Amino acid sequence: TVIENGSFQWSAPSNIALVKYWGKKEHQIPANPSISFTLNNCKTITKLAFAKKQNDSNFSFDLLFEGQPKEDFKPKIQKFLERIEIYCPYLKDYHFTIDTENSFPHSSGIASSASGMAALAMNIMSLERKLYPEMTQNFFNLKASFLARLGSGSACRSVKGNIVVWGNHAEIEGSSDLFGVEFPAKIHDNFKNYQDTILLVDKGEKQVSSTVGHDLMHHHPFAQQRFAQAHENLSAIKKVLEKGDLTEFIKIVESEALTLHSMMMTSIPYFILMKPNTLEIINKIWQFRNETKIPICFTLDAGANVHVLYPENVRVEAMQFITTELVGYCQNGNYICDQVGDGAINF
Ligand code: PMV
Repeated sequence: TVIENGSFQWSAPSNIALVKYWGKKEHQIPANPSISFTLNNCKTITKLAFAKKQNDSNFSFDLLFEGQPKEDFKPKIQKFLERIEIYCPYLKDYHFTIDTENSFPHSSGIASSASGMAALAMNIMSLERKLYPEMTQNFFNLKASFLARLGSGSACRSVKGNIVVWGNHAEIEGSSDLFGVEFPAKIHDNFKNYQDTILLVDKGEKQVSSTVGHDLMHHHPFAQQRFAQAHENLSAIKKVLEKGDLTEFIKIVESEALTLHSMMMTSIPYFILMKPNTLEIINKIWQFRNETKIPICFTLDAGANVHVLYPENVRVEAMQFITTELVGYCQNGNYICDQVGDGAINF
C-alpha cells in the first residue's frame, strides 16, 4: 500500500513500578523482571504527522514540544529511530512532525520518558498498521511495547493497563524481556482504582540519569542478590495482587523502593537521591499507618519525589492526612493526584 500522508494522535500514561527495574543488559534487556501500576492522569499526548518523501537514507523529522520547536529533545528521538529502524524499515520513507505535550508540568521532576516513548511508539504502530492493515490488535500492542522499550526501558510498561509485568518470570504467563504484558491473573478488588498521590519534593534535574544508574549495576557488589530478590518479590506480589493482602503489599512495595535507593547508595560512585523532606514524609506515613491502621504506603522512583499509594476506599482519610501533614514538605506545596489507569488511548 502507498500511503502519502496523514496523522495520528495517542496519549500514553506514565507508570509507577512496584517491583523495580534497575540494571540492564545489552539491547535494553532488563537484568530483572519488574511490575508497575499504569497511571491515569500523568500522561504524554503526541501527534504524529507524516508525509511521503524520497527515501534519502536519513531520518527527517521536526519536533514540537507544547507547540514550540524543541531542538534539545531531537537527539534522543534520532537515537530511538536509529534503534528501531531494523524493525520499522518504512520510517525513512516519510518526513514526520512530532508534536508532543505532557499533562504534568515539564519541570515537576516526573520523568516523561516512559509516557513519551510509549506515545511515540503507539503512533509509529498506527502508521505500520496503515501500511499492513492485516495486523492483529495483539501484534500491535506487543510491538508497540517492544518499540517503546527500545526508547526507554520502563516505557514498555506504559502501553496497557492496569498492572503490567516486564521481564521473564517463571510464574507470570507470557512474560518476556522484550515487551510488557498485562498482569495475566485476576486482580483483587482491593487494587481497583488504587490511588497514587505524587508529592513533588524536588523538581530539580536528576543527579543521576537512569542510563547511568542502570550501568552502575554492572559492577555492583550486591547486583546478583538484588536481581534474585526482584524475582522473589515478583512471585510474592503476584499472590498479593490476586488475594488482596494489603499488609503484604505494603511490605514488598516499601522494601522495593528502599532497595532501589540502597543500590544507588552502595554503587561506586554512590548517590543519595532522597532529600530530607523525602525522609520526613516516609516517617510521617509510618506514624500515621501505625496509629490509624489505614493501609497507606510509599514508593519512590530514582529521585526525591514520593508516590503515596492507598486503596480507593480510604481516599477521604488519606487525602485529609496528605493535605494537612505531607503537602508542607512539597516544593511550593505541589502534588499530583493520580490512580491506576487503562493504558494508551488513540484519539
Ligand atoms: O526506564 P528507565 O531506563 O528510565 O528506568 C526506570 C527505572 C525506575 O523508574 C527507577 C524503576 C522502574 O522500574 O520504573
